[in-house]
Amino acid sequence: MRNFASDNYATALPEALEAIAAANHGPAVSYGADEWTARLQDRVREHFGADATAFPVFNGTGANVTGLRAMLKPWQGVICAEGAHLNVDEGAAPEVLGGIKLLTVPTPDGKLTPELAGRRMVRIGDEHASQPGVVSVTQSTELGTLYTPAELAAIGEFAHAHDMLFHIDGSRLANAGASLDVPLRVITTDVGADVVSFGGTKIGLVLGEAVIVLRPDLADPLRYLRKQSMQLASKMRFISAQLDALLSDDLWRRAAGHANAMARRLAEAVENVDGVTLTQAVQANGVFAILPPGAAERLQEDFHFYFWDEHTREVRWMCAWDTREEDVDAFAEAIAEIVGASSMRPI
Ligand SMILES: Cc1ncc(COP(=O)(O)O)c(C=O)c1O
Repeated sequence: MRNFASDNYATALPEALEAIAAANHGPAVSYGADEWTARLQDRVREHFGADATAFPVFNGTGANVTGLRAMLKPWQGVICAEGAHLNVDEGAAPEVLGGIKLLTVPTPDGKLTPELAGRRMVRIGDEHASQPGVVSVTQSTELGTLYTPAELAAIGEFAHAHDMLFHIDGSRLANAGASLDVPLRVITTDVGADVVSFGGTKIGLVLGEAVIVLRPDLADPLRYLRKQSMQLASKMRFISAQLDALLSDDLWRRAAGHANAMARRLAEAVENVDGVTLTQAVQANGVFAILPPGAAERLQEDFHFYFWDEHTREVRWMCAWDTREEDVDAFAEAIAEIVGASSMRPI
């Protein structure tokens, strides 16, 4: 299979499998009271600062819902981009399991700004309206774009100035850190984030993410909410060991840097092909494009990828830590050939 569908299609990093094998010796205390989870806490403090606590969980939806539950009072809602994973790809889990009202804002590039978030700062104090309690952004975004540290800091300041908390869905935080060439704390702790969903699976773990709590007063509630949200792993050592490996020796940066480089390679190879319109800046590991009618379907006979928007016919091409240069080159060649042929067809 030639995969440009998702970083979730990718194989697991050898280091993740080795970490699981290395942790597979003898009994260990369950539910996180094990030495691998303790080591992970040290590692997380190195990357995110002395106040950080990691809560390993199974998946990204669980990380988001669990983290947000700890941040909100029952009458509060979350300001987020309309296209946020939270809003469009979590099967209404925030609404159904968390009872969370999402206060969405349309954005052209997946990014919120204080000005856009401000559009949902209405009816404050009105008991008939859900009150904004959290601003949530995705870094890197669902559209493969990035927030700069200054843009994140502006949103963090905006949230705190209005008595809200700041949440980052970092399902692809590694891709953002690698692309911006900054330590992870520069786009989380240093910009005022209160809770971060830190992604492991998309960047190469077998499975495993972590809710990183940066406000110590939220850590205790999170313990109970993780269990209640069905995200407390009994054999946690196997998730913690992988996250520890990802955060060691710059593995996260190498894996994400490669995925990003492959997306850039693909974008550069096709951006000047007549008939290919790239619809978003390529800043992480995704490329978004619109092709002439029929071309995407022809390409899908040999390559796996998804339509992102059924109405505009926009497609999404994702790269992963294991995407090979030759796969990118073969895909780019096929795009040029098929799009070239379809642009020459009489209309
Ligand atoms: C931005 C974003 N957040 C969170 C997730 C987590 O999803 P899952 O629950 O499938 O791990 C994803 C996965 O596609 C994502 O793209």
